Amino acid sequence: MRAQTSVSQSETEKTVLSESDFAVLAAMIRRETGIHMPPQKRTLMQSRLARRLRVHGLADFSGYRRLVEQDESEMAHMVSCLTTNVTRFFRENQHFDELRTVVLPDLIERARQGGRVRLWSAGCSTGEEPCSMALTLLDLCPDAHRLDIRILASDLDPQVVQKAARGIYSPDRASQIPEGLRGRFFSAGTSDTRDLTVAEPVRALISFRVLNLLHRWPFSGPFDVIFCRNVVIYFEQSTQTELWPRFAEVLASGGRLFIGHSERLSPSAMTFFEPTGITSYKKIASSQATVSRVR
Ligand SMILES: C[S@@+](CC[C@H](N)C(=O)[O-])C[C@H]1O[C@@H](n2cnc3c(N)ncnc32)[C@H](O)[C@@H]1O
Repeated sequence: MRAQTSVSQSETEKTVLSESDFAVLAAMIRRETGIHMPPQKRTLMQSRLARRLRVHGLADFSGYRRLVEQDESEMAHMVSCLTTNVTRFFRENQHFDELRTVVLPDLIERARQGGRVRLWSAGCSTGEEPCSMALTLLDLCPDAHRLDIRILASDLDPQVVQKAARGIYSPDRASQIPEGLRGRFFSAGTSDTRDLTVAEPVRALISFRVLNLLHRWPFSGPFDVIFCRNVVIYFEQSTQTELWPRFAEVLASGGRLFIGHSERLSPSAMTFFEPTGITSYKKIASSQATVSRVR
């Protein structure tokens, strides 16, 4: 039963998440998303979930724990609160340089001859990453949206996927985009906020989808390029180790994998990937990834 009393912001901010409630919630979030929250993240969890206590008029975290255990829809809210969605346009720009100078020219050539080209931003957050991929592509190939080239952009968190699909960015966020590209591929919004909206050629290239990387993927590729950057850093090593062969399995031979600056492939993954840069890899043509069963 939910408490009916209204709980103020200052009250929930003082409410302490006990070690035992933290342990239960951390185990649930790990099972659901792969995100590992060690004991030192207890205060972080407490502050991020305080809002949910207010929404439900709950006086303490034990009540919230019981709610999440009973109500599956609350799990999605908890996931949204606990995922870190920090991103920006052209983040870790060396990857976009490699894409522009080494990877895309051959792929564009293939598409011009009628071939199929697929890219994936896995863990796309609010869309800046797939949008930067699309802008890099359109800069080299302005008619890319008329060829068989598509970018899949996926994330576990429906709220960020919705925002990504809207394609509206504040002037501050959009200032991270080189001026030439911003002028060509964004238009002023209809409101008086000075927000910028992504133009149709960019939209046409990207499909957005809610997808939990830990679950079964409803496609088999092949992808030519996968960006999965700053996502697995929140996972335990064992979860990361299980994920790499799954990426290898859906990558075309010679396909590229880009990961975040503080992430590394596990040693076992190096049987099917060779490095092309510090955090960029190429699938070894002859390799065959063996994938363990997923949910
Ligand atoms: C820090 S953002 C990274 C965004 C972008 N890739 C970048 O590097 O700027 C991490 C994203 O991973 C997503 N994520 C976390 N666990 C996930 C999972 N199990 N499946 C899919 N996405 C996940 C989060 O929702 C979040 O939006």
